Amino acid sequence: MSSVSQKAKRITTHTLSKMKKEGEKISMLTAYDYSMASIVDAAGIEVILVGDSASNVMAGHETTLPITLDQMIYHAQSVIRAVKKSLVVVDLPFGCYQGDSYMALESAVRIMKESEAHAVKLEGGAQVSKSIKRILSAGIPVMGHLGLIPQSIYKFGTYTVRAKKEAEAEQLLSDAKLLEELGCFGVVLEKIPNKLSKTVTESINIPTIGIGAGSHVDGQVLVIHDMLGMNKEFSPRFLRRYADLNTVMTDAIKGYIKDVKSQDFPSEAEQY
Ligand code: KIV
Repeated sequence: MSSVSQKAKRITTHTLSKMKKEGEKISMLTAYDYSMASIVDAAGIEVILVGDSASNVMAGHETTLPITLDQMIYHAQSVIRAVKKSLVVVDLPFGCYQGDSYMALESAVRIMKESEAHAVKLEGGAQVSKSIKRILSAGIPVMGHLGLIPQSIYKFGTYTVRAKKEAEAEQLLSDAKLLEELGCFGVVLEKIPNKLSKTVTESINIPTIGIGAGSHVDGQVLVIHDMLGMNKEFSPRFLRRYADLNTVMTDAIKGYIKDVKSQDFPSEAEQY
């Protein structure tokens, strides 16, 4: 098969737009490294997010704030090497796009050039509209992120559900409309009431991807370490665990330790 026809099978932002129109739900998961991204891509996920949640699950930071642009590019490069079909979206990290639209463009260009990813994501609405406009002007697809925006955790103080009050809900709806108007190809809605995400999803033509935003969005996203059950402590209501890898891995490691100590490993057949 030629590389052109292989490319034709790739998921693009246009595929997502078509999926929304046709009512087909969009699946999205995070990945940060080659091995995980190979599995996720081969399993058929439409969108892989190289999320700044790498700051938490890969580096062990309490928040997403410390991860740097260089570190995000490193994760994105590892993911891109593995991916054959999924659309790869990379988070612009904290401090690389807010306040200065030229810096935002420079950060987005670095991600696209150095990792060969397909799109960037950034948090916020009206307050980052200049940055979004400038990135889009360079032909870089942008995904928005509204509701709980973890890069602003110190402004809000908690990770609780957002936009429960009318004024905040109205602001969120207006931000979602603005993101569509600016030209974003989609928007992540994080931890907002089901009713509000339904209103937003019905009010805009670009796909909404929810995390803790209920069932009326156009797609769902989860952090892969959470949905695979690698972390036992993190248990929000919205999280469904599809595996218990923490137990699987712990049992495997304990089995290995036991076999090393008892000299059961390596066996005759495992030696040269
Ligand atoms: O960084 C991330 O993983 C995200 C998702 C939670 C949407 O932004």
